[in-house]
Amino acid sequence: MAMKVALLGCGVVGAEVVRLLDEQAAELAARVGAPLEIGGIAVRRLGRDRGTGIDPALFTTDAMGLVTRDDIDLVVEVIGGIEPARSLILAAVKAGKSVVTANKALLAEDGVAIHTAAREAGVDVYYEAAVAGAIPLVRPLRDSLAGDRVHRVMGIVNGTTNFILDRMDALGAGFTESLEEAQSLGYAEADPTADVEGFDAAAKAAILARLAFHTQQVTAADVHREGITEVTAGDIASAKAMGCVVKLLAICQRSTDGASVGVRVHPVMLPREHPLATVTEAYNAVFVEAESAGRLMFYGAGAGGAPTASAVLGDLVAVARNRLAATSVSEGAHDTGLPVHPMGQT
Ligand code: HSE
Repeated sequence: MAMKVALLGCGVVGAEVVRLLDEQAAELAARVGAPLEIGGIAVRRLGRDRGTGIDPALFTTDAMGLVTRDDIDLVVEVIGGIEPARSLILAAVKAGKSVVTANKALLAEDGVAIHTAAREAGVDVYYEAAVAGAIPLVRPLRDSLAGDRVHRVMGIVNGTTNFILDRMDALGAGFTESLEEAQSLGYAEADPTADVEGFDAAAKAAILARLAFHTQQVTAADVHREGITEVTAGDIASAKAMGCVVKLLAICQRSTDGASVGVRVHPVMLPREHPLATVTEAYNAVFVEAESAGRLMFYGAGAGGAPTASAVLGDLVAVARNRLAATSVSEGAHDTGLPVHPMGQT
């Protein structure tokens, strides 16, 4: 029997998820053990020509009705933002549906409530697409490295700011003209605040810290944040003269006594030979230092319709398999309770 998927949002990522579910239907069915079928798509307004070729009968504006419908097994949330995403995800979980979400802002602010609700309902909430798009990071940190002791996670998790800093470095350009170029290429939003002020990276950093240190104690508000708006062409030139490059880094690390974690986002001067210094354009990369595994580097496309849809579909396959096997992955069930320490202490 087919597993029915409710899709919340049909923008660039949502439309690509629908397209891939159709194009790869047979392969995905074989991997899951059952076909995955779209049961409905919640959008804000009906009647817009989305140019996607999707059956218009699938669209509805009643998102709450859709996520709680009896025949829906799985919910994919790609609308972003705090509300109505939070209410819809909580309602879906309470109705026994497993959820895949790309919503970093919501998870960074209220991930604990969502994971607690999922644990109580015995369903999954997976979110690989929320941090660094296509790059597998959530499950490697949560699962693959669960037998190790992570000391530090340090990464470029915002493509827009990496593009801007890269242009400033390569061309000697100023911040404003590099931002304008990023906007003209569709990397930066018309309102670039979340990217250039570091809010987007801070949300991702909070999620990475929670995963790396198995603690539920970190939210976006705990992250020390500084964006790139004050970085000048002169700063970049000085860094260059010292053999360095400026990168906006998200840094999550244990204190030296291991009793707390610190999380921060700010521009850093990196020696050009550091692996993260070689990450150009809008790419993302995350460097992990663990006690036994040593140094690991994860690199790839951190945004865009297809890369983000790849992460969403990977999660969809995983939660569908778990559902068929009647299992779920309970995040937060083994919270170390490691607190966040004020900035400056490590
Ligand atoms: N604005 C984000 C970035 C998109 O530039 O990386 C992906 O979260």
